[in-house]
Amino acid sequence: MDTAEGRTTLASTAGDQGGRRVPVERQESPVRADPGPRAGAEAAGRAGRLLAGRRALVTGAARGIGRAVASRFVAEGATVAGVDRQAADVAGVHMLEYDLADIGGLGRLVGRAEAAIGPLDVLVNVAGIFKPCDALQLSLDLYRLTLAVNLDAPVLLAVACASGMVARGYGRIVNVTSIHAQFSEAQSLAYDISKAGLAGCTRTLAVELSRHGVLVNAIAPGFVRTDMSIVDGVDELQSDSFRGIYQEHGKLPLGRAAEPQEIASLAAWLASEDNTYVTGQSIAADGGLSVTF
Ligand SMILES: NC(=O)c1ccc[n+]([C@@H]2O[C@H](COP(=O)([O-])OP(=O)(O)OC[C@H]3O[C@@H](n4cnc5c(N)ncnc54)[C@H](O)[C@@H]3O)[C@@H](O)[C@H]2O)c1
Repeated sequence: MDTAEGRTTLASTAGDQGGRRVPVERQESPVRADPGPRAGAEAAGRAGRLLAGRRALVTGAARGIGRAVASRFVAEGATVAGVDRQAADVAGVHMLEYDLADIGGLGRLVGRAEAAIGPLDVLVNVAGIFKPCDALQLSLDLYRLTLAVNLDAPVLLAVACASGMVARGYGRIVNVTSIHAQFSEAQSLAYDISKAGLAGCTRTLAVELSRHGVLVNAIAPGFVRTDMSIVDGVDELQSDSFRGIYQEHGKLPLGRAAEPQEIASLAAWLASEDNTYVTGQSIAADGGLSVTF
């Protein structure tokens, strides 16, 4: 889609696919010292909650970490739209069914979310896939699918949501990456590339958007007790190698996988206006895994 200057941009690609077009003009005074206005009446009854009056879009909200994030945000006073390719009832969350591999429709998706809950203050990109495969066996289809869901969709959603956040002078974006963004493992080529790319996206968007009051961070989990830990019917958290290397040998200092709620708790703070000075960071929530060798 062409912009006024006749150029195709990510914002026009993601943000003008028939959805509500959000103005991208810069503000007169883009740097805000204060955290921006809350939806006053809504916020009044929710004093003390981290996300009172805020509106958030959370991907991967049907289960696992995304579901925990969406539920925690509701508990913290946010109005939440959740996206997932699988249908789910999540208490208090307005669920939208959507396959994030369809990157051409992400602008419309943001439009649907905003039509349902109002202008977005917060985006949390959680949805992701991991399909182990030897590098030499990796098909182009699996490579493309992994990058579409884990990298293209979060990047385009962030750009689409950031347009409105910039116009309003406030926003928080949280990307769930992985310790795989920084460290590698066999059979993870596409996944590792996708997560490293999303960490890069986090830094660059933070640099560009901070002066507009939009802070962008990533959470890099290690082991989390979700369905993603079950590969080909085998729960890696019950495997001999997890017990031997990570628990008994001490490679994982906390000696256990995280619960999804422990990731959600960090996401809630990063996404809140309590966070006024952390941006561009990838925070490892990994039980100490990445500081051992
Ligand atoms: N579980 C872990 O150990 C772990 C560790 C590090 C990072 N992560 C990351 O955390 C995020 C969440 O993982 P999880 O453990 O909750 O996984 P999960 O498989 O339990 O949940 C992922 C959710 O994303 C949704 N999803 C996947 N592909 C989608 C698509 N194309 N369109 C829409 N929705 C889609 C799924 O339906 C599911 O609800 C992922 O990005 C993952 O890479 C997980």
